Formats: sequence, C-alpha cells, structure tokens
Amino acid sequence: MAGRREPRRPFAGRRVLLGVTGGIAAYKAVQLARDLALAGAAVDVVLTAGAREFVRPLTFEALTGRAAHTSLYPDGDPNLHIRLAREADLVLVAPATANFLARGAHGMADDLLTAILLATPAPVVLCPAMNDRMYAHRATQDNLLRLREIGYTLAGPATGPLAWGEGEGPGRMLEPDEILAHAGRALESPSLDGVRIVVTAGPTREPIDPVRYVGNRSSGRMGYEIAAAAWRRGADVHLVSGPSHLLAPVGPVVTRVETAEEMRGAVAAHLPNADALVMAAAVADFRPSDPAGEKIKKESGGVPVIELERTPDVLRETRDLRPAGAVVVGFALETQDVVANGRRKLERKGLDLLVVNDAREPGAGFEVVTNRVTFLEPGRDDESLPLMSKGEVADRILDRVEAILQAKRAR
Ligand code: CTP
Repeated sequence: MAGRREPRRPFAGRRVLLGVTGGIAAYKAVQLARDLALAGAAVDVVLTAGAREFVRPLTFEALTGRAAHTSLYPDGDPNLHIRLAREADLVLVAPATANFLARGAHGMADDLLTAILLATPAPVVLCPAMNDRMYAHRATQDNLLRLREIGYTLAGPATGPLAWGEGEGPGRMLEPDEILAHAGRALESPSLDGVRIVVTAGPTREPIDPVRYVGNRSSGRMGYEIAAAAWRRGADVHLVSGPSHLLAPVGPVVTRVETAEEMRGAVAAHLPNADALVMAAAVADFRPSDPAGEKIKKESGGVPVIELERTPDVLRETRDLRPAGAVVVGFALETQDVVANGRRKLERKGLDLLVVNDAREPGAGFEVVTNRVTFLEPGRDDESLPLMSKGEVADRILDRVEAILQAKRAR
C-alpha cells in the first residue's frame, strides 16, 4: 500500500526474559509479552507458582511463539535456569509482587525466576505491583532500597486505581507501553548516562485574544523523538513542550508552555544546569503586540488589523545562561539557499550543530513522521542525510551531540 511503513522493531535480535509473578497485574503482563514480541524481541516467559493462579503459560506461548517456563527442574533438566539467565539480554519482572521483591532482595533461589535473577549477567528491571499498604510497609521499602543498591532498575509503581474495591494509591504497576520504554532504556548502551539535556518541542501559540492565537503546524514529533531517544541512552531529560497532541514520552520530565515568552522562561530556568540544549521547537517569530483582553466580536466594527511584534529569540536571549562546555543544537526550516542561510544562523545563534530541513522536500518538515535533514557544524563539512524516520534522525542527532560533548570535555 502506498505510504505504508514497516512497523519499527526496535527490539529485533534481543532476547528478553519476562518474569511474571502472582499479582492481579499479571493480566497486563500478557499485553506486555505481546508488545515485546511485536517490537521484535524473542520473549522467554517464566511464571511463578503465584502467577499461574492468574494467567496460564499457554496464553504467553500463543503470543510469543516460545515455550513459557514454570519449573526450576523441568523433566530433570538441572540447567534451565542457568541457560535462560545467560541467554537473556534483559531480565524484566512484571508484575513484581512484594513477596518476589523480598525473595529477590535476599538472594533466595527457591524457584526458577529467583534462580535466574541470581544467575544472570543481564540488566534487570523490576516493575513492582501491590496493594498500597503492602507497598508502604517498612519491610517492602527496605527491600526496594536493597534491590536498588544491588543495581536493579525499579520501574514504578504508579499511583492509581488498585484492585477492585481497593481504591487508589501507590502500588499500581506501570502500563505495558511505559514498561516497554524502560526495557528499551535497559537494553540500550547508556552512552548519555548522567548527561542533562533540555529539549524543546512543538509550536508556540501567541494570543490574539483569549480564544485565538498565531501559531504554526509543528506537531512536536521531532523534539519528542529526541527526548525519548536521549532518555533511552541514559540522559536526564527535561522536555519543554509547546501545545502538542502527542503522548508525552516516558522518562523525560515535561514542562508545558504556550507562548515564546513562556518557552524562554522554561529554557532559562533549566539551561544553567544542562550539558546540552536541543532547540527543536518551532517558536513563533511574531506575536500580536497588543492581544485583546476580551474576545474580538464581529460587530465591533470592520475587520480588525492585528499588529505584530517580534517574540524573544530563545536561543539568543538565553545565550549567557549556557554553562561552559554545553552543547547547543538548533533547527532551521529553510526554503532557499539552505546551506548558506544555515551557516549564517549557526554563527548568529552560537550553535554547535544546526539541523536544517528543506521545507520543499517531500517527506520533510511538519506533520510527517519522516525527515530529510542536513547537518551543519562549525569547522566541518555539511552532511545531508537520506530520508528517514524522525526516530532515526533523533539518533543521528544524538550521535553528533555525544561526539561534540566528548570533544569539548577533552579540551
Ligand atoms: N528559535 C528561538 N526563538 C525564536 C525563534 C527560533 O530560539 N523566537 C530557535 C528555533 O527553535 C530553532 C532556531 O532558533 O532552533 C532557528 O529557528 P528559525 O525560525 O529557523 O530561525 P530564525 O532566527 O527565526 O530565522 P528565520 O528568519 O529564518 O525565521
């Protein structure tokens, strides 16, 4: 079909051991197993005895196309736990009950899943799920602390509706899509570990009156992809987003803004503590100079003339707040003399990298999932990338950010 794209399979070639323990959230593990398999992973499911009270191995086998395991010594095989532990690229336990966390924290190995936990060299992500009082209990909190010290990643729990009749509270397991994002992060090499990145995304809206605005067609997708990819690489990400219909990426802290002025304020607040700023937002360049306090009515006489003024240039006005050695990336949408204009912008805004879109290229720019960009860097030849998904463009941009950061740190 024209325009149809292959689904992305970011987990292709990766082997995920999904441990399921005995909590009601086990029903969500079924969806998670399917999502992992659709993302390309080979999923080996291990169910504890408790899990089997809620879901059956057969369910997982039908969704993953692989055997689901339940026993430490099946058919006299003494080494299943060692084999599964060694072959996994990631051990993911969802849901992880209070009982399982207690056993894991104390190095027990009395069933297949706990034995795998001890034997695996792979990263481990645990997704706690339990009643809010069980979660708050001192014993559970101590166990969680210990598990963190061991080096396991704890994803969740969230606060929300618990099992039927139990109301709301902390203890609810994360949703499958959130867990998938954590799994993606654990599988990626943490090349931006500890790096603090501010990413801006989306359009801004400049009010004409309380109900109308000047804006643009930016969806925010490019910036959201960069924020998600940076978080997957281990960065601490702050996403400053103009109005966007996209789901916020899992991981980054999100600040929502409306106007260029608010975006300037949010960037100014976070930039002094950042190692990098990626300014992917399509900030409006002009705003009504005197927005009406009340809705402009048709009857109020004639057609209104809206006078415009310049908005603050976020990149230029926050320039003094950049810490020494910070990497700053800008974007530009050009329609003529793309490279020459881009080179001037690089200079004018004091950028380490400018990502230029040619607005006339099919498949590039606003409201599409793909992009065709050219990288401009001071002292380096231009590099024009082929048409690719915005997710892939995000990864290429971050490769550059890492290289520039390294070069600056080596100086
Ligand atoms: N930008 C900004 N503040 C603005 C406008 C733009 O910080 N008020 C940032 C954008 O986020 C982008 C870069 O500046 O990273 C370049 O944006 P662009 O609109 O191409 O640059 P302008 O300076 O507005 O130049 P032009 O006259 O070509 O629109």
